[in-house]
Amino acid sequence: MSSSESSKRVVSGMRPTGRLHLGHYHGVLKNWVRLQHEYECFFFVADWHALTTNYEHTADIEQYVFDTAVDWLAAGINPNAATLFVQSRVPEHAELHLLLSMITPVSWLERVPSYKDQQAKLNDRDLSTYGFLGYPLLQSADILIYRAGNVPVGADQVAHVELTREVARRFNHIYGREPGFEDQAEAAVKKMGKKAARLYMQLRRAYQEQGDAAALEKAQALLAEQQNLSIGDAERLFGYLEGGGRIILPEPRVLLTEQAKVPGLDGEKMSKSYNNVIEIREAPESTREKIRTMQTDPARVRRQDPGNPDVCPVFSLHRIYSSEEVCRWASEGCRTAAIGCVDCKGPLIDAITREQTERRERAVQFEQDPGLVHTILREGSEKARDVAKETIEEVRAAIGISG
Ligand code: TRP
Ligand code: SF4
Repeated sequence: MSSSESSKRVVSGMRPTGRLHLGHYHGVLKNWVRLQHEYECFFFVADWHALTTNYEHTADIEQYVFDTAVDWLAAGINPNAATLFVQSRVPEHAELHLLLSMITPVSWLERVPSYKDQQAKLNDRDLSTYGFLGYPLLQSADILIYRAGNVPVGADQVAHVELTREVARRFNHIYGREPGFEDQAEAAVKKMGKKAARLYMQLRRAYQEQGDAAALEKAQALLAEQQNLSIGDAERLFGYLEGGGRIILPEPRVLLTEQAKVPGLDGEKMSKSYNNVIEIREAPESTREKIRTMQTDPARVRRQDPGNPDVCPVFSLHRIYSSEEVCRWASEGCRTAAIGCVDCKGPLIDAITREQTERRERAVQFEQDPGLVHTILREGSEKARDVAKETIEEVRAAIGISG
């Protein structure tokens, strides 16, 4: 695979935790739905990652994997546009994780902020395991096995992608320096043809001698256009450009996506562990009841008291779901006590249940025929595996254990 393909490739995963809620939708899924048309997307259910924090409770995991997949499909992820699969069906993730573990200093993992944060937060669980320490490195393997250029994640995952970049850099540094690298790179330059070769060398010099970042980008684009370079030669030339060895595992970038913060029913962040969620496919009656009793501005005790939408979680949902006009109506009505909270919640209930109904309709065929979902995941896993195998073979060869 060339690096231009890598830059158009997206990979992201989600742990199976049961039915997805509106926080997942506005935080992650909505972006995936958009990205599936712009990039070559690999989306997977991270069932091994679920084990790292929950190894004792595995009874529901298969059901959760299934529910997660149905929720994705219901939310508008199209299996013809994106590759959907299950992490544990692609064992190459595990092999790459193992190989990366050989070169990853323990201190890098201990330094990842989520390590100590989660240990403090989830203090009822046993997180003193080897697997939990390795959580972000497994995530690195998930990303690097597809040589993906982009990882759409929220702010809480940025440190994990950062680690991935460091590990990739270290890997390339250690295993990309084959004997005779310079000679091989120079031979590869010649294969580009005179004109492209001259331009490549000029741009390389501009980058290496003057740190010209634009020249680096131009040279990378030039390489990406080359049709007659082998994968190995392309890797050499990408590395040679930056003054290193062969780039076997390209460093991915975070694709920072817009993430609306969705408040839960109690005003805290929406989260299953807080028991304050509205599911993306929840039934209308239950949604209506939840919003009816949802937390509002606590200072607005009586109907005639004016309220403050800025401290009201209901209004935060309006910002996500309602038009500007409805938001203005709610905000002004609240501040002047012209409307009551019941009135205010009305259009929100309508908007949320309308979306849920659409998703429930989309999910019917999958719930009636679970085999359809299993087929999608099996075919997706096979497709992912084909790509993963290519990478792992190159990785083995670079290390020198290809057999
Ligand atoms: N750690 C991610 C989360 O909790 C899930 C995940 C696992 C992931 N592997 C990944 C995300 C690879 C992006 C890429 O949300
Ligand atoms: Fe919240 Fe609306 Fe009630 Fe104001 S009127 S407190 S914004 S629910």
